[in-house]
Amino acid sequence: MGVIIIYMYEFPRDFFWGAATSAYQVEGNNSLCDWWDYELAGRLQYHSGLACRHYELYEEDFDLAKALNHNCHRLSIEWSRVEPEEGKFSSEAINHYKRVVLSLRKHGLEPVVTLHHFTNPIWFSRLGGWGLKKSTDYFLRYVSKVVEALAGDVRFWVTINEPMVYLYHSYLLGIWPPQERSLAKTQKVKANLLKAHIYSYRIIKGIYNKHNLDKPSVSIAQNMQAFVPCVPSLRNKLASYIRAKSFNLEFIEKAIKAGALDFIGVNYYSRSLVELKGWGIKNFAMDICEDGHSNLKKNSLGWDIYPEGFYSVLKSLERYKLPIFILENGICTGDDSLRWDFIHDHLVKLAEAMASGVKVLGYIYWSLIDNYEWDKGFSPRFGLIEVDYTTYKRTIRESAKKFGRICLEGKLNYGV
Ligand code: BGC
Repeated sequence: MGVIIIYMYEFPRDFFWGAATSAYQVEGNNSLCDWWDYELAGRLQYHSGLACRHYELYEEDFDLAKALNHNCHRLSIEWSRVEPEEGKFSSEAINHYKRVVLSLRKHGLEPVVTLHHFTNPIWFSRLGGWGLKKSTDYFLRYVSKVVEALAGDVRFWVTINEPMVYLYHSYLLGIWPPQERSLAKTQKVKANLLKAHIYSYRIIKGIYNKHNLDKPSVSIAQNMQAFVPCVPSLRNKLASYIRAKSFNLEFIEKAIKAGALDFIGVNYYSRSLVELKGWGIKNFAMDICEDGHSNLKKNSLGWDIYPEGFYSVLKSLERYKLPIFILENGICTGDDSLRWDFIHDHLVKLAEAMASGVKVLGYIYWSLIDNYEWDKGFSPRFGLIEVDYTTYKRTIRESAKKFGRICLEGKLNYGV
């Protein structure tokens, strides 16, 4: 008969608990950005349309987050609303986001504000987007406007969401706008994104300094995967190492070197089972196992559920000696008990990593509400809260209530 030992982990009292959204995925009617443009042109399969109508319903959504005992919330600002035409800023949009941030504060939710979450204004994308030499200047002008407006009420800024995921989908695979497939362009855009982050960091710090405000914490949200060799051959091991280095770590290492990272923002979902079919550069960069060797449970998009990888990713960041903030971790599924298992098992790994000395500021689940999952449309259900897309009614899921209890108590009991 096996013996189960029950452990209890107590999270720090000032730990942040919450959930995330991004503007384009939830707001609705975001007609001024490249995604909308591509959707209407038939270059993307699904149309975001009204999304979750969060632009109008944000108060109601924050009421629910508060009822679930969250004490923080991650959101993004839609650049194309703030700057609908080149150099022309919309005070209406800026005031809207001001109201949103104040509403978060009123609800006792610490705002974690992202400045770029995959979408760009149509004018910017038509000029050439992130491939342009001037792209960072355009972005920085927008950053200054937003930060000047929100500085007093925001302590946590995320400049760019998942630069590597954006590069991969938009410039390598050619699935997301601007649907390009070029290694050379990818390199150029990567350099521009890094520059945009570093200068945004400095601008944000400068604005807070000028207004004599407490120092804000600034970072990026970096998608990190566990790269696991399928068969532990030399080339699979080597490729896994290289991929972790370039996909997970390169961007943050460069930002740290430039003195432009206050914490490490981590988005963790799954693992990648590495299986090389040759020794070429492309094999090293892209090959994964397609032979169904994984026997792990999966989310509704077929991604492996692999909490062990969360632990190893967190441990791999210890050497940078910066606090970590989990900015996204979540599952899309039609089976809410699987969602709860996912959250629970990842919190266990988080607790184990923290107990072993990894410093983590908070855990933010993706996502607060079901939403528009980019090129996959509305069918993947990531939300703690279900959205009915005909009535826009919100319904709290059981998993959300269980997570809410942990947010309230700050304690996790688990058996091993
Ligand atoms: C992105 C989100 C996305 C989520 C699930 C992250 O890569 O930041 O926008 O919805 O993953 O795919």
